[in-house]
Amino acid sequence: MDGQLVDSYGRHIKSMRVSITDRCNFRCRYCMPAEGLPWLPRDEILTYEELARIVRIAALMGVDQIRLTGGEPLVRRDVPEFIRMLTAIPDLRSISLTTNGTRLPQLAGPLAAAGLTRINVSLDSLVPHKFFQITRRNALEAVLAGLAALEAYPSIHPIKINAVAMKNFTEDEVLDFAALARRKPYIVRWIEFMPLDADQIWRKEDILSGGEIRAIIEAEYGPLVPIAEAGASETARRYRFADGIGEVGFINPVSEPFCATCDRIRLTAEGGLRTCLFSQTETDLRTLLRGGADDHAIEAAIRGAVLQKELKHYINDKRFVRSTRSMSMIGG
Ligand code: 5AD
Ligand code: SF4
Repeated sequence: MDGQLVDSYGRHIKSMRVSITDRCNFRCRYCMPAEGLPWLPRDEILTYEELARIVRIAALMGVDQIRLTGGEPLVRRDVPEFIRMLTAIPDLRSISLTTNGTRLPQLAGPLAAAGLTRINVSLDSLVPHKFFQITRRNALEAVLAGLAALEAYPSIHPIKINAVAMKNFTEDEVLDFAALARRKPYIVRWIEFMPLDADQIWRKEDILSGGEIRAIIEAEYGPLVPIAEAGASETARRYRFADGIGEVGFINPVSEPFCATCDRIRLTAEGGLRTCLFSQTETDLRTLLRGGADDHAIEAAIRGAVLQKELKHYINDKRFVRSTRSMSMIGG
């Protein structure tokens, strides 16, 4: 098995986001309804062995970055064990995790010991009642404790905070987040609100663009200094402050789409391969896996799906069709 994984527009797929559960202990408004979603029955979720097999096959085709997502990945049992299974796969450059942070006080140590090297913690507000308004959980303190716990494990770095930005909500906290990025070893990144919520509350008017946030920061700190992009597929525009203390970034999928350099595919918890956040279809790898398919057949299915990878999303276009799946079902 060799040959890189390339789509029909010449984009090389290097990164796979692997959702390990659709469950979550939060109910963020831009993602889930208050009552939650009907969770997948356990036997419909891929086992760690099944997930690791897909990762191994993808790695042979050049996928070298794995990010674990959910739902909330840390509500699944034995995530450190799974990370150990992944670190045994040759040629993976990075294994990272996107989490809401609530379980990090207990798990930061075991995750670091297992070989986790990068992490993104989602945190949209530093004000308790606003945090509750978004997540419908009183968990700000737990998340901050989780972030603090990470600081004891320097092998996990950088520590990134991802904040979904929303109009008439985020503006008055922009400077507090900027101050946090200067005071703590955290890189703060704002993500534009996307139409991926189960309740379909998304409206274009609710987007607070990265450009608008940058203007708020620059009014206080003066011009931010761009940091050279690490790679063409980098989704964040990165900046440091003029005095060199702290880093912030902007992920602007709506106002500045980065589809042309997208190198990502996604695997849902039940084994559906998705080639775009906004895909209308999925390739069912679970049926193949459980039907006794050999590695070549799975490789062929992955290659076939990638050849159908969407050119771009059409959020800014009349053609845009909403996904019927929320972020928690897709895997951030
Ligand atoms: N728009 C933008 N980001 C979202 N996330 C969840 N739903 C949305 C949305 N509708 C983010 C979470 C987390 C990551 C998994 O995806 O806040 O950072
Ligand atoms: Fe859970 Fe993440 Fe969805 Fe919030 S955005 S409800 S933390 S899956």
